[in-house]
Amino acid sequence: MGREMVNVGCVKEEIDTPALLVDLPAMEANLTRMASFFQDKKAKLRPHAKTHKCSIIAQKQLDLGAIGITCAKLGEAEVLVEAGISDILIANQIVGSPKIARLTDLAQEANLMVAVDNPENVRALSQAASGNGVVLRVLVEVDIGMGRCGVSPGQATRNLAEQASRSPGLSFAGLMGYEGHLVFVPSLEERTRRCQEAMALLLETRDLIERSGLPVSVVSGGGTGTYAITGALSGITEVQAGSYLFMDGRYRGIEGLDDFDIALTLLTTVISRPNEKRAIIDAGMKAVTHEFGLPTVKGRAGAKLIALAEEHGIIQFEEPDNQLKVGDKIELIPSHGCTTINLHDFYYATRHSLLEAIWPIAGRGAFH
Ligand SMILES: Cc1ncc(COP(=O)(O)O)c(C=O)c1O
Repeated sequence: MGREMVNVGCVKEEIDTPALLVDLPAMEANLTRMASFFQDKKAKLRPHAKTHKCSIIAQKQLDLGAIGITCAKLGEAEVLVEAGISDILIANQIVGSPKIARLTDLAQEANLMVAVDNPENVRALSQAASGNGVVLRVLVEVDIGMGRCGVSPGQATRNLAEQASRSPGLSFAGLMGYEGHLVFVPSLEERTRRCQEAMALLLETRDLIERSGLPVSVVSGGGTGTYAITGALSGITEVQAGSYLFMDGRYRGIEGLDDFDIALTLLTTVISRPNEKRAIIDAGMKAVTHEFGLPTVKGRAGAKLIALAEEHGIIQFEEPDNQLKVGDKIELIPSHGCTTINLHDFYYATRHSLLEAIWPIAGRGAFH
C-alpha cells in the first residue's frame, strides 16, 4: 500500500511520516487575505508556483482572482499546462536548444510569457518560435539591485526591448524586475523605502521605452515580503508572490506579514529517546531543508531541534522530559517552505487535525 493510500478522514497522527501537512484553514485564510489585497488594486496577483508546485493549489489561486501563474522553471510550467492551467509567466531565462524547443512546443498549448536578458537568447527564441509557428511573449528582466539575472535599467533594457519587438516570433510584452534582495529586510519602513527606490528604476525604464514609442503593457515584480509595497505602486501590473500561502520560519516574524499564518509543517515520528533531554525524529535533511536555518518545533515549549543528519533530527529539551514516547508525533515548522516542498511527493491537507485530502506535488523536482 502506498503512503498516499492512507484514508482521508483519519486523524493526522495516523499519517505515516515524514509527511508534509497543510493546515487548510490557515492556507485558505492566507490565500483569501492576499486575494483581497489585490481586489481594489490596479496591479494583479500572478502567484509564484515555485512554492507549492501543485496544480490543485494553483487552481485555487486562479479561482480567487489571480490573473495567471508564475513559474521558475519550464518543467514546472509543463506540469501546470498538463493540468489545464494556461496563462503562465516563466520568470526566468530559458537557454539552450533542448529547452527552447520544449518552450515553443508548450507555447502551442498555453499563453506563455518568458523573461529575457540577453541578445543571443532573444535571437534563439525568435528563431525557434517563428520556426514553430508560435508567438512567444517576452518580458525583459531588469536588474533592480538583486544582482542576479537582468539587464541594467535604462538604455540597456531599452535596446533589448527594441530587439525583442523587432524579432519575428516574439512579442515584447513588458518588463520584469524582482526585488529579491529586499523581501526579507526586517524593518517595514526600510523595506518600503528601498523597495520603492528599486521599483522606481523599473518604472523609469518603462517610461523611457514608452517614450520611444514602444508600449509596455506588463510590469511585473514583487514577492511575499514586498507584495503590499510593490503591489500598491502605480505602474506595476503584476505581483509574483509565492510563499504567502504557507509562510515559513524565515518569513514569519518579518514586520508587516503578521496577518499570514504558518500553514505548512512537517509531521515526524519519535524513533528514539536516548535520554530524558533528547528525542530523535525520523526526519533529517532529506525531508526538510535548512539553508535558512534549522526548522523549529511546533507547540512544544522548551523543545528545540538542534541538528539534522541525513535521516535523523535531534531534539533537545530545556528541562528533562518524561512524557514524549517513541512512536509519538512531532511537527516541525520549516525555515524555507519552497525547497522543503521540493523534497516531497504529496501534501496531506488537514482540517482541525483530520486528513481531508492528499494532493500530489507534481512539479516537485521539475527543475529542468
Ligand atoms: C522571480 C521571482 N519572483 C518572485 C519571487 C517571490 O517569492 P516569495 O513570495 O516566495 O518571496 C521569487 C522568489 O524566489 C522569485 O525568484
